[in-house]
Formats: sequence, C-alpha cells, structure tokens
Amino acid sequence: MVAEIIDGFAIAAELRRDIAARAAEMKEAYGVVPGLAVVLVGDDPASAVYVRNKLKATAECGLRSVEHVLPANTSEADLLDLVGKLNADPSVHGILVQLPLPKQIDADKVLGLIDPDKDVDGFHPVNAGRLSIGLPGFVPCTPRGSQILIDRVLPNLAGKHAVVIGRSNIVGKPMAQLLLQKNATVTIAHSKTADLPGLCRTADVLVAAVGRPLMVKGDWVKPGAVVIDVGINRIEVDGKGKLVGDVDFASVAEVAGHITPVPKGVGPMTIACLMLNTLDSAARRIAAES
Ligand code: GUN
Repeated sequence: MVAEIIDGFAIAAELRRDIAARAAEMKEAYGVVPGLAVVLVGDDPASAVYVRNKLKATAECGLRSVEHVLPANTSEADLLDLVGKLNADPSVHGILVQLPLPKQIDADKVLGLIDPDKDVDGFHPVNAGRLSIGLPGFVPCTPRGSQILIDRVLPNLAGKHAVVIGRSNIVGKPMAQLLLQKNATVTIAHSKTADLPGLCRTADVLVAAVGRPLMVKGDWVKPGAVVIDVGINRIEVDGKGKLVGDVDFASVAEVAGHITPVPKGVGPMTIACLMLNTLDSAARRIAAES
C-alpha cells in the first residue's frame, strides 16, 4: 500500500473537542446552549441508528438535543405543524428531519418549511442558493466534513482537477461548489458520463458519492491522488454483512496518495459537522441579536 490513510475518526474526535470547548465558552459568555431538534418519523432501523449517533455526539459536545419520534403513519400536516413549532422555539438553533420520510409525506415540502437559519442539514433551497453564490449559510454536513479532510492533505487546490462522482443535492452538488470555492477546476460525473474511469484518472482529487459498492478501482486513479470515499454500502462477504465504500480500498490504496477508509473516514466527519453547524447557528443568532 502506498496511500496514506486520512483518519476521519481521529479528525472528527478532534473537531468535537474543539466544538465542546467553544460551546462551553458560549455558555459562559452568553448563557446560551446550542439546541438541536432531531425529528424521526417511522421505524426505519438505519435511520434510528443514525439518529442515536447524532444524539450521542450532541451530548458529547455539550450541546442540547430534543428528539421527536413520530409514528410511521404520521400525516404530512402533523409533521409540518411540528416543524412550525420548532421554527418558533427560541431554544432550538438547529432542526434536522431524518430522511427518508414515509411515502405519504412530501419531503421537499417539509424541508422547505424549515427556517433556513435553523437548517443545519443545509438542505433548504435558500441554503443551496447561498452556497452556489458564495453567501454565508449552512453547508450540508457530508460535503463540509469531506472538505475539511481534503484541506488537511491538500490545502491549495488552485490548478488542481477535482472530480466528484455523483450529482445528488445532498453530497455531489454541494461538494462541487465547495471545491470550486477552493479554486479547484471541478467536474461532476454521474451515471451518464462517458468513459468514467478515464475521466477519474485525470483527477487530483476524486470524491466518490454514488452509492455503488467498490465501484472505483485502482486503475481509475491517478498516482498520488486524494481519494475521498463518501459511500456507505452494506454488502455480504462469506455470508456476513460488511460495510464498504464506493471505492475498492485495496486496489486504490496501491495508487492514491491519500485515501479515506470506510468505516471511520467521512462518516464521523458528517456527524461532527452537524454539531459544527448547530454551534454556528447559535453563534449567528447571538451576533444578530447583539
Ligand atoms: N438520512 C441519511 N443521511 C441524512 C442526513 O445527513 N440528514 C438527514 N436529515 N437525513 C439523512
């Protein structure tokens, strides 16, 4: 193996410690404890695990969290009503509605009702717009965390080519915006892109966010490239469940300069950035009111 592993687990722990210190200072100076409301609708087991991890991190960082668990048959009107109440609650600085939502609920409608200034997921169209024109706002947690990891190993992206595989609103598009702000030359690739391996071989920074297990192989990667694996896929190996990324770690680590592992790469950074967005939200409110 030639690549150096980017230890997202350790970097996220460092970030959480820094957030905890800043939250303690905020409490001391202003009497404010950043509050995150997490809304879980239904009983999807994966969502329940994600929410539990988010609540645990909130407590570790000295932030306050309130969990709202609603049954799977909750109506859209009831969920919209809850979001409205959380928008109006001054003790809430961040609102996260865990996705996916049950079929009877229009997720765009719910996400669109969240106050953009409490939208710590960064999914509201106003925050997507702010990011695309370079205004301060909330950046979705996974791209924000991925960018922090890239900054650690390649802080100057001027003259570099970044390829983002995946064009989702949650990862691919905001990731491309962040890389562009950092002066990279950015290509967004997707399922209809011609010669994807050839394109990837031109990337100095390669971000894989497609949800296809082990898709990116060693011969897709430029020697020395920084490879960020956003994928979290559960596959069966010898009859046992295993978590793997969108990157075939074994072959890519023979070629890349730096690589994130799965697990313990981007995943912990996503949660740490949710804490960071919640802290930022409280800090912005304090600044606006003083
Ligand atoms: N479901 C899977 N990932 C996420 C996320 O980052 N935010 C929300 N709200 N739901 C998710």
